[in-house]
Amino acid sequence: MTDEIVSVIGGKQTSGASGDVYESVNPARLDEVVARVRLADAETFSSACRTASAAQAEWAAVPAPVRGRVIASVGRLVEANAETLARLVTREIGKPYAEALGEVREIVDTCDFFLGEGRRLYGQTVPSEMSDKSLFTFRVPVGVATVITAGNFPVAVPSWYLVPALLAGNAVVWKPAEYAAASAHALYRLFAAAGLPDGVLNLVLTDGATAYRGLETALGEGTVHKVGFTGSTEVGRRIGELCGRHLQSPCLELGGKNPMVVMPDADLDLAVEGALFAGFGTAGQRCTSLGTVIAHESVREEFLTRYTRAVADAVVGDPAGDVLCGPLLDERFAARFEEYLGWIEPHHTVVSGPTGRITPDNPRGSFTGEGGLYYHPVVVDGVRPGDRLFLEETFGPIVGVTGFTTLEEAIGLANRPGYGLSSSIYTTDPKSAFRFRSGIGAGMVSVNNSTSGAEAHLPFGGNGKSGNGSRQSGVWVLDQFTRWQALNWDYSGKLQKAQMDVAEIIPDPDFRL
Ligand code: UN1
Repeated sequence: MTDEIVSVIGGKQTSGASGDVYESVNPARLDEVVARVRLADAETFSSACRTASAAQAEWAAVPAPVRGRVIASVGRLVEANAETLARLVTREIGKPYAEALGEVREIVDTCDFFLGEGRRLYGQTVPSEMSDKSLFTFRVPVGVATVITAGNFPVAVPSWYLVPALLAGNAVVWKPAEYAAASAHALYRLFAAAGLPDGVLNLVLTDGATAYRGLETALGEGTVHKVGFTGSTEVGRRIGELCGRHLQSPCLELGGKNPMVVMPDADLDLAVEGALFAGFGTAGQRCTSLGTVIAHESVREEFLTRYTRAVADAVVGDPAGDVLCGPLLDERFAARFEEYLGWIEPHHTVVSGPTGRITPDNPRGSFTGEGGLYYHPVVVDGVRPGDRLFLEETFGPIVGVTGFTTLEEAIGLANRPGYGLSSSIYTTDPKSAFRFRSGIGAGMVSVNNSTSGAEAHLPFGGNGKSGNGSRQSGVWVLDQFTRWQALNWDYSGKLQKAQMDVAEIIPDPDFRL
C-alpha cells in the first residue's frame, strides 16, 4: 500500500484535515501513486503559523554560527541521501534523473554557501557625526516566513528560501505543491534530522486556495512576516495584493518568457545546443526555460534547419533513463499545455513534426508514450509580436522562433512580453553582448549559454511580470529574510542633538588660486 503523508507542525504529524486525500501520481506511469497526501485545511495552515511564531524567538537566540552548523548538517544529510531523493523527484514529477541529481546538488550548494554565512551575517560599524557616539547596523530576522513553492523544482527552489530563512533565525511554514508533496516531505525529514527544534520548520500539505485562506488569517493575526512564493504571475499578483494590504513585500519568483537572441556572428551549433536544453530540458518546465528564439535574418534559416534536426534527434522518454525530455509534471500541467498548443495560428509553421500527446496513434518514432504524460516537443516558426505564443509564458516543451535585422530591434522584441526573468544572447562580439545586457529588462543574462541553469550563488530573480524585484540566492536573499536595525550609542554623557550639535568646519568660499 502507498504511504499516506500528512502535514508536520511543531514536529508532530498533524491530520488537521479537510478530509480530502490527494494522490500524487508518477507522471511517467499514471497508474502509480507515489503518495497519498492528506490535505490540511485553512485553520491548520494558520495554526502552523502560530506554532512557528511561538518557536521563533528561541531559534533566533541560538548563535548564528550554531545555526550555520545546522545548515551544514542539512547539506551533509542531503548529500548522503542524494540518490534516494533524486530518484523520488524523478518518480514524482518525471524530471530526468540526471537533472534530478543536479537539482539535489543545488540544495547542497546552497547549504555550502550559507553555512559560512552563519559566521558572517555582518552588520556595520558606522562613524557618527558627533564625538563620543557610535553607530551600528544589525541584521534582524523578520520572524515567520511562509514559503509557497511550485513542484517543477520540488526540492532545490524550496531550499533557496528555507536555508537562508532558517540561517537568519526565522521560523518557517512551508507549503509545497501537492503534486510534489512526497519529495517535499522527504526534504522536510532531512531538515528535521539536522536537529532543527520543533516548530522552527513546519510543513503544511494543502492546495493553493486553502493555503491562501490560511495565509490571509495568519497575516491578520500577525503571525507571518514574510511570504516567499514561486509560481505563476497570476497567483503572484494575488499574493502581492494580499501582502500589500498588510504592508508587507513578498519575495516573488514568477514566470518567464525568456528570449534567446542569435546574432549573425554566433556559433550556431553552440546556439542550437543551448536552445535545445533551454527549450526542452525539464520538458520546458523551468521558469527559466526558453520562450522565443530571436534569430538574425541572415542566420535564421540555417539555425532553424539545425535546430529542427537537433530536436528530432532528442530523446523523449522514461525519465529514469538518459533522456532530454520526460513527461509533464502532472495532469493539470498537461491540460494547460494543450491550451497553449491551441495558440498555434495559421500564420505559424510548426517545423518540428507532430504536436500533442505522444500516444500509440501519435507516436514519436518508436516511442508511444503509453501510460505517461509525454508530449511532442514543438518548434513554431513565424511567431509575431502580437501573438499569444510570443507574449505569454507557455510552460512546457514549445519554443517560438522569430527574426530581426538590428540588435536594437532584437532587444525590443526580447523585452516586449513584459516578463524579465532570464535571457540569453549568442554572439562572438563583446559589443553586442554588453549592449544586450544593458538593454534587456531581465534579472539574468546569459552570453553563449542557455537561459536556464543559474548557479546557486548569484542573485536569482526577475522584473516586470517575473517578480517584484526581490532576489533569491547568494548574499542577496538575506535582504528578504532579515531587516536592518540601526543602533546609535552616545557615551558623551550629554544629549547631543543630531543635525544640530554638530561641529562645523568653515571653508573660505571666496578663495581663488
Ligand atoms: C525555476 O524553474 O523556478 O536556473 C527555477 C535554473 C534553475 C532554477 C529554475 N537553477 O534553471
